[in-house]
Amino acid sequence: MVKNYPAVSEEYLKAVDKCKKKLRGFIAEKNCAPLMLRLAWHSAGTFDQGSKTGGPFGTMRFKAEQGHGANNGIHIAINLLEPIKEQFPILSYADFYQLAGVVAVEITGGPEVPFHPGRQDKEEPPIEGRLPDATKGCDHLRDVFGKQMGLSDQDIVALSGGHTLGRCHKERSGFDGPWTPNPLIFDNSYFTVLLGGDKEGLLMLPSDKALLSDPVFRPLVEKYAADEDAFFADYAVAHMKLSELGFAEA
Ligand code: HEM
Repeated sequence: MVKNYPAVSEEYLKAVDKCKKKLRGFIAEKNCAPLMLRLAWHSAGTFDQGSKTGGPFGTMRFKAEQGHGANNGIHIAINLLEPIKEQFPILSYADFYQLAGVVAVEITGGPEVPFHPGRQDKEEPPIEGRLPDATKGCDHLRDVFGKQMGLSDQDIVALSGGHTLGRCHKERSGFDGPWTPNPLIFDNSYFTVLLGGDKEGLLMLPSDKALLSDPVFRPLVEKYAADEDAFFADYAVAHMKLSELGFAEA
């Protein structure tokens, strides 16, 4: 997809730069990188390429979308971020939430994901039910990431590596526990743990384990477990695509 990024003012670019610095300090201080990455992903992952609805356009600011079942707990991220957003009224929520996701990956030791500003806020949240179901397998992942969002098989595996950060909370999703022994560090341990089989105290969702049984997904899991640089390179591409679904389409 050839992108046609909108021009933004000098003043806007300066605000992006300054906001990025504020977010670095804030997310590090609060140890909330995992939640910020989940916020950015859940904002973008509702994009439907058929109807061109949903996507990273700031609609998570509405209580209606925060109330979708898959977004349990996301209001905590929104409320944490609001005092920072208030310092940058020029920025769209759309850009702001995606910037928080990019910063979350960067400050936990992950790759630098390129960020292009200029998303405009939409006023209508997407319909509920577009985010993936953790109890399902590869066909479902391809339906959601491929058919709905327009992402590739490689993007699915690389983005699943986002579970290198954070944990499941019983009261939010019904699942409980982190994927890796170091949930505040962005590295390739999601893939090494996934290949290593069940470990006490760690958890893999059915949708994570499903990657092991697919002839296209499994070799990518093995590649990323063996080569962190390859994971980081493919993750940065996939994260940028995710954060720009429906944005700047030529
Ligand atoms: C492949 C399909 C996916 C499914 C089914 C899925 C499902 C889930 C579930 C059930 C949780 C636990 C929520 C909670 O209880 O707090 C979670 C957390 C999380 N997800 Fe995913 N996820 C998927 C893809 C992704 C992607 C693509 C990313 C980012 C690139 C991502 C990033 C995260 C992060 C960082 C957390 C931890 C949040 C925290 O610690 O508060 N997930 N995911």
